[in-house]
Amino acid sequence: MSGKAGGRLLAISDIHVAYPENREIVEKLRPRSDADWLIVAGDVGEVAADIEWALDLLKERFATVVWAPGNHELWTPKDDPVRLRGEARYRYLVEVCRRLGVLTPEDPYPVWRGPGGPVTIVPLFLLYDYTFRPPGTTKEEALAWAHDAGVVCTDEFLLHPDPYPSRDAWCRARVRETVVRLAERDPSLPTVLVNHFPLTREPTQILRYPQFAQWCGTVETADWHLKYNAAAVVYGHLHIPRTTWYDGVRFEEVSLGYPRERRMYDREGREPLREVFPEDAP
Ligand SMILES: [Fe+2]
Ligand SMILES: [Fe+2]
Repeated sequence: MSGKAGGRLLAISDIHVAYPENREIVEKLRPRSDADWLIVAGDVGEVAADIEWALDLLKERFATVVWAPGNHELWTPKDDPVRLRGEARYRYLVEVCRRLGVLTPEDPYPVWRGPGGPVTIVPLFLLYDYTFRPPGTTKEEALAWAHDAGVVCTDEFLLHPDPYPSRDAWCRARVRETVVRLAERDPSLPTVLVNHFPLTREPTQILRYPQFAQWCGTVETADWHLKYNAAAVVYGHLHIPRTTWYDGVRFEEVSLGYPRERRMYDREGREPLREVFPEDAP
């Protein structure tokens, strides 16, 4: 699979289509050319039918759509007729994507050959393991700190890790499996690493509630942008859209986020699609 010269490699995340305002924005997303590809870095929605609606619409429009799951897709909400939990829910969503022609972390990594290419696009599903907690604290202490502050991620109630004993155990298994997959890629090509959660801890340092960081990633991936020769890293989850650089590597937080956040932070009218390649002019 290859991107045609001249297209754009675009990215978005956290489109949260349960919100009608977000759904309207998604309905307006269109490529400029048949060669544009779209990365969707998680938190499409919660209810399986909503997730399918959005990915189907985007795949109808963009030549290639690459999806990495967010935590919200992995919830089992009370109002979802799809009652699958944990790994079974993830596998169900992968099958939905296959039916739609959307690429997932379980598929061969596609190579983008448009501007900035060739690069291997690597959608990742790694989850988090609570290691972005304050140094010197245990997982239990950090969770108690979050409970005391009233800042507990809803994942604790709706993101079931079955058949793993915990979300962190699931994360460790995913990291192990992903390292094997990454070792099999073409080592001569740079990568675009796509993960719902930030690969490094630094982006979480500006969170309004520092307690939330423990649900935001794993220290296991701290050097992956270097180890896997990343030309760019695409992530979301924090709902803080921006571009930052770590060790000379560009990190793009590409969240659309919630309507109230766009109003609060004056992001209304901002272009919802980020150009990974060609690189946005500063
Ligand atoms: Fe989100
Ligand atoms: Fe998220």
